Amino acid sequence: MSLTTRFSALALAVASMTSANAADFEFNTKLADADALVIFQAGENQSNLKFLDKDTRKQLERAIAAEDFKGAYGKTVEVLAPVDSDYKRIFIVGLGDAGELNASKMTKLGGNLHAKFEGKKLENVAVAFEDVEGALSNAELAAQFAHGANLRDHTFEVYKKEPNTFNVNYHFDVADKQATQAQYKALQHIQAGVFLARDLTSEVATEMTPVDFAKAAKELEQYGVEVKVLAPAELKELGMGALEGVGRGSEHGSRLVVAHYKGNSETPIALVGKGITFDSGGYSIKTGASIARMKSDMAGAAAVLGTVKAMALSKADVNVVAVMGMAANMVSQYAIAPGDVLRTAEGISVEVVNTDAEGRLVLSDAMWYARKHYSPEIMIDVATLTGSKIRAVGNEYSAIFSEDDSLITEFTNAGKVVNENVWRLPLGYKDKLKSDIADFQNVGSGGPGATTAATFLQQFAGDTRWVHIDIAGNALSSSAKDEVPTGGTGYGVRLLSQWLLTAK
Ligand code: BES
Ligand code: MN
Ligand code: ZN
Repeated sequence: MSLTTRFSALALAVASMTSANAADFEFNTKLADADALVIFQAGENQSNLKFLDKDTRKQLERAIAAEDFKGAYGKTVEVLAPVDSDYKRIFIVGLGDAGELNASKMTKLGGNLHAKFEGKKLENVAVAFEDVEGALSNAELAAQFAHGANLRDHTFEVYKKEPNTFNVNYHFDVADKQATQAQYKALQHIQAGVFLARDLTSEVATEMTPVDFAKAAKELEQYGVEVKVLAPAELKELGMGALEGVGRGSEHGSRLVVAHYKGNSETPIALVGKGITFDSGGYSIKTGASIARMKSDMAGAAAVLGTVKAMALSKADVNVVAVMGMAANMVSQYAIAPGDVLRTAEGISVEVVNTDAEGRLVLSDAMWYARKHYSPEIMIDVATLTGSKIRAVGNEYSAIFSEDDSLITEFTNAGKVVNENVWRLPLGYKDKLKSDIADFQNVGSGGPGATTAATFLQQFAGDTRWVHIDIAGNALSSSAKDEVPTGGTGYGVRLLSQWLLTAK
């Protein structure tokens, strides 16, 4: 067969590590030097191999039989076969039931195959995509595959002496070039938001203070996002004593960061993010190994900022404002101490029984600010809030809390599309938050920890339709899986973007 004629249609280069703008599809007309070929097979229906030489085809058919390959999803048969008077690697990849082939499966597959190709140092991979069909169009499936590969490729290696600069170039043969390109473009905007969230999360805490984060948010002004930053003096003046208090132990102090993308003039959606740039626990200091991962305690803020970037780049028809409560929870003579009482802007006083329950404190004032200044239609907060959440549902789900059943359904569906699955946990146990000295205490005296934390936040939602998403355990990965590499995951950007673009 000739790779030149068969696979000259479309090409895209997966960007190397940190570049936030993955390369566009590019037209490439000399692809004879591809060193691997990917052919898909949906279930037991033998894929169309007639464009291959007879000998090559025979070799493939033998390999398929020998491996008892039945086209199961994710299963791969690899052979080295003669092609164009040379030998090329050919991968036959199972897609499972064509009718069940959807975005999430394709993204995962793109991620996993990309890791495989990179491991084998394959620089040019030709992908025969033309005949792939499923629950979505060929174009959408191809774009999702590329999206998965790009997502898996983006790792944070700025501290490595020898960062991985290896590139896999994909040459896709698709049914409809233009449609594929359009789908891919749309996903690249989301990708850019994910990469921002990941990089902010992966960066070490001394280089990602509330001030550094605010600076990163300011970068979004170039995309038409309005960015505001409030410093400790203003927070105090506005009465945001909880947010201001948590940051007092660090020389940098707290910040409230607001990023508004106004894609239409409807009532805005508010996204509120927990932005603890390092969570030592404060005087209730963390003693376990988890303290070494607490640079990621600003992942909620990163996710909502990344989502605003994604919406702005997409020029989406949405009005969305991210409100991020930023602070480093540190120990110093100025830090809050257990037993202190903080006053929130809502007018609710809080006894800080445990300084390690700081996320709900910064969120309480951020939620107040979002309501007071934007009167949002819906408010969604995203936070690495509790270890209890991890014990309850692990890290393959985030935990979602709301009284609003239809919002729960919308988020559950959005999560399935993008492999960011949510699982509902209950609100309640409000009596566990009673304080002897203040209106509430910041931790539950007993009761399920993820729920008492959520119920605390609920006191600051007012009458606004509200959802709380606890992403503890989802934000920083210690082993690559599917489309998610090790490090900051950018969890939540795809979930929120999918919800904003389809449910809203
Ligand atoms: N940031 C932590 C929650 C967390 C734990 C996130 C592990 C990611 C991984 C949060 O601020 C915290 O410390 N929560 C405490 C609350 C407790 C003191 C009521 C917890 O869950 O242990
Ligand atoms: Mn904490
Ligand atoms: Zn925390």
